[in-house]
Amino acid sequence: MKFCESVFIISVFIQLVSTELSSYNFPENFVFGVATAAYQIEGAFNEDGKTDSIWDYNLHKKPDWVIDQGNGDVACDSYHKWEEDIQLIANLGVDFYRFSIAWTRIFPSGYAGSKINDAGVIYYNKLIDGLLAKGITPMVTIYHWDLPQNLQRNGGWMNETIVDNYVFYARTLFELYGDRVKHWITFNEPFQICESGYSETDLAPFLNDSGVGGYICAHNLLISHGRAYREYERTFKQNQGGKVAITAHSFWFEPQGESDSDRAAAERAMQFWYGWFMHPVIKGNYPPIMIERIDEISQKEGFQKSRLPKFTEGQIEMIRGSFDFIGVNHYTTALASISNNFNEPSFYFDGGVNRTEDSNWVKSSTSTWLNKVPWGLRKLLNWIKQEYNNPPVLITENGWSSSTGLEDSRRVSYLNEYLSELLKAIHEDECNVIGYTHWSLLDNFEWLKGYTARFGLVEVDFNNPDRTRTPRKSYGVYQKIISSRKIN
Ligand SMILES: *[C@@H]1O[C@H](CO)[C@@H](O)[C@H](O)[C@H]1NC(C)=O
Ligand SMILES: *[C@@H]1O[C@H](CO)[C@@H](O)[C@H](O)[C@H]1NC(C)=O
Ligand SMILES: *[C@@H]1O[C@H](CO)[C@@H](O)[C@H](O)[C@H]1NC(C)=O
Repeated sequence: MKFCESVFIISVFIQLVSTELSSYNFPENFVFGVATAAYQIEGAFNEDGKTDSIWDYNLHKKPDWVIDQGNGDVACDSYHKWEEDIQLIANLGVDFYRFSIAWTRIFPSGYAGSKINDAGVIYYNKLIDGLLAKGITPMVTIYHWDLPQNLQRNGGWMNETIVDNYVFYARTLFELYGDRVKHWITFNEPFQICESGYSETDLAPFLNDSGVGGYICAHNLLISHGRAYREYERTFKQNQGGKVAITAHSFWFEPQGESDSDRAAAERAMQFWYGWFMHPVIKGNYPPIMIERIDEISQKEGFQKSRLPKFTEGQIEMIRGSFDFIGVNHYTTALASISNNFNEPSFYFDGGVNRTEDSNWVKSSTSTWLNKVPWGLRKLLNWIKQEYNNPPVLITENGWSSSTGLEDSRRVSYLNEYLSELLKAIHEDECNVIGYTHWSLLDNFEWLKGYTARFGLVEVDFNNPDRTRTPRKSYGVYQKIISSRKIN
């Protein structure tokens, strides 16, 4: 153990001194933030009128979904410790705080037109006012994975009646908080919500409806996003003057080798993973390559119609252009090559891309999917610039998963090196990046990894009933980057 640790420290040291970090400054209007999500930090899962989300429900029913059988019942207890969180955010010096609202605190039944829960409304009023009092801009994620279980009983995102319920919920938030909240993210990571939740068993509701569920979920989700955006535009934008966006997650997909087929695989992967959501929002409709492949493969598989649902012309127009900036959550890079070696029907067979990694990449010890590949961020930002005509991009998440410990040197080098590539994308490639959000402020409930994977700039002691918070080394490093507006 000790020997490994010292080898690890030496190798981190070598990486730090051997990497040339950019000496550019962050542009004057570039903003810095830090992010969390309700289920991962709040706890108080059944307090003050809140009902079960799909996470509460499923993890109570089957704790074994999670590696350490953890859940969000208490988490960081931010429902009670929000003032301390605000102080940590303020001391960090960030411009904004990105957090999510728990649907089940606002509408315990989930349904449009149902009774509003005042205690839930008050909690977020206190949080928003507390942030503003310290000069921190609140940025709200309307939906960060915690669907009311009551709506899941009717199929959740698979049922098109979800659209009215979601739009009513979003509209209610605009009404309640839009006088003070000017930045809204309709959805966090549709891929994870739909593919991981409805086609696989990686996230709640664990439906495992391979090749079908994910596409239907995504279809209803995109219509919900578009309608919420148009509702804001029509009813609130003029008075409130805010911005509405959607955030999708994206790997950077690097061709595994030099061949044309590897290059085609990497481009296809970008379209299947990121374009699935951003193509409808920016260019209109699903990426042509997705429509073509899924239509054809569905037919070969004997489906009556394509497993990829069709938008009407009206829906295509309604969703096209439904963004004031685009959000991207980016953590890591993968290598892409062509493969048909997948079960059918599935998103993976439809995409036909084998996703691998380079064994030389520095790997997170606690989140095996996460490798440190800083140049991938720069390539991703350039791809977005080319593909979507250089829209304003906010990096809504980026971060590193460690174990416990305050000397988080790998997070520090990850942060420095990713921000260094970001600076090159801005200054050398003229990518229109408006800000950066680090995931996460606090160690928190990391879904199926429970409390084993730590993403916090601040360590949380989950064995202590007080959930003691202690800033890590990376907290100070990020603080200094923000105040000096460069990497130090
Ligand atoms: C869809 O939801 C509605 C209620 O909103 C319900 O009446 C209907 O049965 C649901 N459909 C399915 C297939 O579950
Ligand atoms: C998901 O479905 C596949 C294939 O239908 C099955 O082999 C697998 O056991 C299922 N997984 C879970 C966790 O139910
Ligand atoms: C992906 O590539 C790896 C390494 O070449 C190979 O071991 C694996 O079987 C491939 N998987 C698929 C689904 O093609």
